[in-house]
Amino acid sequence: MIRPTAPADTPALLELTRDTGVFKPHEIQALDEVLADYHLANHALGHRSVTSEDAGAVLGFAYYAPASMTDCSWYLYWIAVRKAQHARGIGSKLLEFAEDEIRRRNGRVLFIETSSMPSYELTRRFYLKHGYDQTATLPDFYADGDSMVVFCKRLRP
Ligand SMILES: CC(C)(COP(=O)(O)OP(=O)(O)OC[C@H]1O[C@@H](n2cnc3c(N)ncnc32)[C@H](O)[C@@H]1OP(=O)(O)O)[C@@H](O)C(=O)NCCC(=O)NCCS
Repeated sequence: MIRPTAPADTPALLELTRDTGVFKPHEIQALDEVLADYHLANHALGHRSVTSEDAGAVLGFAYYAPASMTDCSWYLYWIAVRKAQHARGIGSKLLEFAEDEIRRRNGRVLFIETSSMPSYELTRRFYLKHGYDQTATLPDFYADGDSMVVFCKRLRP
C-alpha cells in the first residue's frame, strides 16, 4: 500500500534510508529536517511525500515537489526502499505513483538529481529503466570526482 507519509514514519524512514548505505550522514540529517519541515509547512505548500507500507512495516518512501519559478516542472527529491526489499518492484511502484500524482497536478516534466559515483550505478539504471533521459552532468558538483547526474522525464506531451 502507498499512503501519505505520516509524522510517525520519520524514525523508520531515517533508519531505512541510512541502511541503504548510499547516503552520507549529513544527507540523513538533511532528510530529518526535510521531513520535519514537510509536516510543519511544506505539505501545505504543495510538497508531497508518500510511504510504502506492507502489514504495518514501512518499506520505502518518495518525496517530490514543484520546482518554484517554473512552468509546472517538478523535482523528485528523495526515493528510498529498505535494502532487504530492493529489486522487488517497490521503488517502481513509488516512482509510478509519484509520476501519476504529478500528472494529475498538471506537472509537465520531472527532474531527478543523483550522483555519478559507482555506488549509484543501480540507481541510475533504475531511472533509465523508467524512461528517464540523462540530460546533464555537473562535474565535481558534490565533491571532486563526484558529479551530479540529472535525469528528466516529460510527463505530458
Ligand atoms: C533506487 C531504488 C529506490 C529502487 O527501488 P527498488 O525497489 O530496489 O527497485 P525496483 O525493484 O522497482 O526496480 C529494480 C530495478 O532498479 C534497478 N535497481 C536499483 N537499485 C537496485 C538494487 N539495489 N538491486 C537491484 N536492482 C536495483 C535495476 O535496474 C532493477 O532493474 P532490473 O531488475 O531489470 O535490473 C532502491 O534500490 C534504493 O533505495 N536505492 C538506494 C537509495 C537510492 O539510491 N535512492 C535514490 C537516490 S537519487
